[in-house]
Parts: sequence; structure tokens; C-alpha cells
Amino acid sequence: LVVQANKLGAEIQPTLYGHFFEDINFGADGGLYAELIKNRSFEFPDKFAGWEIFGNVTLQDDGPFKRNPHYVRLGNPGHMHKHTGLENGGFFGIGLKANEKYRFTVWARGENQKISVELIDNASMGESQVITQQEVAINSKEWKKYEVILTSPVTFEKAHLRIFLTTPGTLDLEHVSLFPTDTWKGRENGLRKDLVQALVDTKPGVFRFPGGCIVEGTDLATRYNWKNSVGPVEDRPLNENRWHYSFPYRFFPDYFQTYGMGFYELFLLAEDMGAEPLPVVSCGLACQFQNDNPEAHVKVCDLGSYIQDALDLIEFANGSTDTRWGKLRADMGHPAPFNLKFIAVGNEQWGPEYPEHLKPFVEAIRKAYPDIHIIGSSGPNSEGDQFDYLWPEMKKLKVDLVDEHFYRPEDWFLKSGNRYDNYDRKGPKVFAGEYACHGKGKKWNHFEASLLEAAFLTGVERNADVVYMATYAPLLAHVEGWQWRPDLIWFDNLRSVRSCSWYVQSLYGHNKGTNVVPLTMDKQPVSGQEGQNGLFASAVWDEPTQTYIVKVTNVSDKTQKLNVEFKGLKKSVQLGEGTCTTLHSDNLDAENTLDNPNLIVPKESKISIENNVLNTEIGAKTFAVYKFVK
Ligand code: AHR
Repeated sequence: LVVQANKLGAEIQPTLYGHFFEDINFGADGGLYAELIKNRSFEFPDKFAGWEIFGNVTLQDDGPFKRNPHYVRLGNPGHMHKHTGLENGGFFGIGLKANEKYRFTVWARGENQKISVELIDNASMGESQVITQQEVAINSKEWKKYEVILTSPVTFEKAHLRIFLTTPGTLDLEHVSLFPTDTWKGRENGLRKDLVQALVDTKPGVFRFPGGCIVEGTDLATRYNWKNSVGPVEDRPLNENRWHYSFPYRFFPDYFQTYGMGFYELFLLAEDMGAEPLPVVSCGLACQFQNDNPEAHVKVCDLGSYIQDALDLIEFANGSTDTRWGKLRADMGHPAPFNLKFIAVGNEQWGPEYPEHLKPFVEAIRKAYPDIHIIGSSGPNSEGDQFDYLWPEMKKLKVDLVDEHFYRPEDWFLKSGNRYDNYDRKGPKVFAGEYACHGKGKKWNHFEASLLEAAFLTGVERNADVVYMATYAPLLAHVEGWQWRPDLIWFDNLRSVRSCSWYVQSLYGHNKGTNVVPLTMDKQPVSGQEGQNGLFASAVWDEPTQTYIVKVTNVSDKTQKLNVEFKGLKKSVQLGEGTCTTLHSDNLDAENTLDNPNLIVPKESKISIENNVLNTEIGAKTFAVYKFVK
């Protein structure tokens, strides 16, 4: 390999690597969003879904929160040996950690009443052991929020919350909530700390949300409506999740979106991560392949409110506090703008309807916010490379970036290292917004997939003049609640595991550099197709740390000699000792699991270089990152 160390190529966008978050696989409710109670507002279609009730419990519908009007009334059970109460099993049980504190809150009204709030260790009523308990006195004629902190003395993966009336009267309960106090940054209505840490730890430069198919909805009525996801959390109306029944073999009838982690929380998360927020809005077309269904399309002439939603979203993110939506952002706790620069319109739309729908959005956004970068879509990721067919339309509409999605098998990734080598440099830039190597033969998140992703990403990096963003998908999956795999991070109620693909993302995120550096292999410019002798490579320069970074993936099954010459440096410049970080597994099918999370992790060692030439070997099936400070 020859690195032309005296020549700086294209600038690498700070957004090149990042995350795409969607509420799939219980990624939000039951996942990143740290709420532990399912159906906390009694608004699921089955109002008691997730709850067991006992004694005298009735459902009421004139509660204090207009958009979530249902609540429960606990009445006298009518006998001294009977109790009135209710029990919630969380999403897949409630995970408790020893000595951690849990904030129980409830809206209630009643006079001189008491409830016992208990965390119990048994799934069914009757034989349960109380793990921890507190009594809460309710004494308010009007609705009022009550809070109590419970400390768990033990770690328990599948606890339940039980509440029962201990006085002989009547009281009303609404929005029953339980969060660990130890959320990300200790925020109330907060996010699960280990999962946010896993996101932050890849150093993401961009954060796309909230989907994915959930932006579109199964039908338009169930599309993600960002305006319902902001404001007081108790009054954000429930929405059906696109993923609750779409894959019959992973049927989750109780999969809804509370919007508890809504757009405000998502913007805040992007800010915490240091990533550019990239919201996606509905373009008035519901989720794919429903051409014959009139419920799935808004006529172009009726798009007004959809376009307004997009404009209002920009105002919510960036508007001054004198504006309607900017004020709401300030009221929620963030007077400073979120500094939104990008907006995507539509997710993975297809057919002639999409450009027709996109056009008026582009016109309106350009007119009101000329500095905002607009992202269009290249179409769905069906077989046979059809997914590129909307590119010409995107060029005509002059969107700034085009979102491409590809979930493809190993051989596709192997052959596609040169995918971007000949992309038009004059048109829109590329956002590879959803991709992952899907192993054939039902292998998921196995090492080989991550190795091929690493190989493919050398081509992304070499083409950083045209590829501005790339995000793996999906991001999160609950081991008991997934609909789609592979995924970057898996979790259960207490633990999480970073897949080998996560380590690839992290190695790229941390070693992104600021400029591409020209590279040749065997005197030829590096082209990624199938690699050269099974080797894929890219080189970058990182200005702040004055470091050359060379990434090499050896997909072959032989150890190979590697000679990397840093050419063109002044004689007086001698690169010092550097580092080599490798990701490797002898077993291509091996994967990190919750029980064995560190099976495949990067290993760093020192490496010496002489006269600016590195003579080394790269092991078979290895991704390696070499770094030398100038
Ligand atoms: O990432 C899973 C799904 O794949 C997304 O929701 C959708 O955009 C794509 O089809």
C-alpha cells in the first residue's frame, strides 16, 4: 500500500458515521426509554393490557389528560379479606438492580386514602414475595402527582409492580409510572443509561430518527406524528406501532408508542451525543407497497398540513422562543435552538408517487428555510438493485442528499466495496441511511457480517467526497421483543451487548479523520470490488491529532504481508511508533451475546515503523486500524 501522505483529498464530513434510531424491536418503549410500566395511561385498545386487576377496579374516561382520558377507580372491595388493586408486568418483566432506586409516580385523587406500592418477585398474583414496598397517602380532591422512591435490595430481572388500596374508601389513579432514578444524565422521563452509553461510545456524527417504517405508519392515521410526541408527557396520545403486527412470526399485539421519548427527547439525545439531529417526516405516503389502498396516500393537492408539520418541526428545533413551536421547546426546558441542519422527507418511498409528493415539500422548505439540507429517498431495498431507481428523480428535485437502504447478503457486501467509486460527483450526496450485512443461512450478528461491513466501509470512506453519512440499521433490539435482525445492540431488562458490527462502527467513528488521503495498492488506485487479494483499504488524515489512519480489512483466509509506505513526507518527518487495533475471530459464525459480551472485541497493540514504511502482517479474516502521529 502506498499512502500519498503529502496529498490531502476530500474533506470527510463530521456526519459520516452515526446512528439511525427507530422504535422497532422494542427499541423505545421497553428499551431506550426507561419507563418500566407498560400501558401506564390505560390507553391501549384493551385498556387493561399489561395489567391484572383485582377487587373493585373500574375504568373511567374523563381523566385530567384530554388526549389520554382513561384512568382507573379503586373502590372498596366489600369484604375485610378482599383487596382492591392492580399489577403490572412491565414490558418483559421489570428489571431491578440491587441497591438502585426507582421513582414511582402516579396522578391520583381521593381523600384520606392510602395505597401500598410494591415491587414483587413473581409474575402471578398470590404467591409473590415483596421485594420492596412503600405506602403513599393520597389526600387531594383534585388530581395531583404523587411520588415515592423505592430501593430494591436485590437484582431481579422480571419483577412486577403491585398497587393496592389499604383504606376502605375510593380513589382514582392515572399515568402510573416507574423509572430508575439512575437514567442517562439522571433525567426524569429519562433514557436507559447503558443503552445511551453504547450509542455515545461510537462517537456518532449524525442521528436519524424516528424511523424507518414507523414514520410512514401502517396507514396514514398511524404514521409518526411528531406534534403528538412533544409537550407534557402525560398528554401525549398513544399511537399504534407499525411493528406490532407486521411480521406474523413475531407478533406483538401490545406494541404501541407512548411517545414518552418524543422529538424533544430525541433532539436532546442527539445533542448529548454530539451528533447532528436528522428527523424524518411523513411525506403523505403510508408504509410500502400499498398502491391500491387509498387510505395509504394523501393526494398531492391535500398535502398542506403535512408540509406545515415539516415547517413547524424546523421551527420547533430552531425557532426563537417568540415563535409558537420555539416557545414550546423552551417551555420543555431548551430555550437554545437545537441547530437543526437536515430534514428527511419520506422514508423508503417508491414509485412515481414519491417524487410527486416530495416536490411541494422541497419548494416550501427551500422558501422558508433555504439553509436546511433536504434528504430524499432512493426507494426500497428490494432484490435486484431496484433500490437505486429514484436517483434520477432526486437529482431533478435537487435534494441535497439521497437516502439509500441496503440489507444485503455477504456476497453483495463483498462485491460492493467499489459501490461509490463512480457515483456522480455533481448531484446530491449520499446518505446510506440503513444498511447491514444479512448473513445467509440464518446467521445473525456473526463476525463475518461485521468483517464485510468493515470491508465495505473502506469504500464509503474513500468516497467521502460523495458519501456524507452512513448509519447501520436497526440499532436496538430486546432479546424477547425483536421483529428484525441483525441489530447493532441487543439488550434484556438488565443487560446489553455490543455486537461485532457495533465494534466496526465504533472503530470507524473514532477513526474518521478529517481528509481522505490517496492510496494505491500494487500501484493501482484502491478499488473495493472484492478487494485486491482479499484486501480492502482506505487512508485518512486527522488534522486535530495530526495522525494518519489506515484501515485494512483482510477478508481472505490467509495471513498476508502488508507493506504500507507513507510517501511524499519531507525527509525530516519520521512517523513515530504507532498503534494497530484489530478485530478478529477464528470462528466466522461467532457473535457477542448477553452471556458472553466480550467474545469479539478489538485488541490494540503498539507497532513500529521504519523510515515511514510499515512492514507487518495482517491476519486472515481481520479488520485492522493502523495509526501514526506525524
Ligand atoms: O430497519 C428496519 C426497516 O427497514 C425500516 O423501518 C425501513 O425503513 C426498512 O424497510
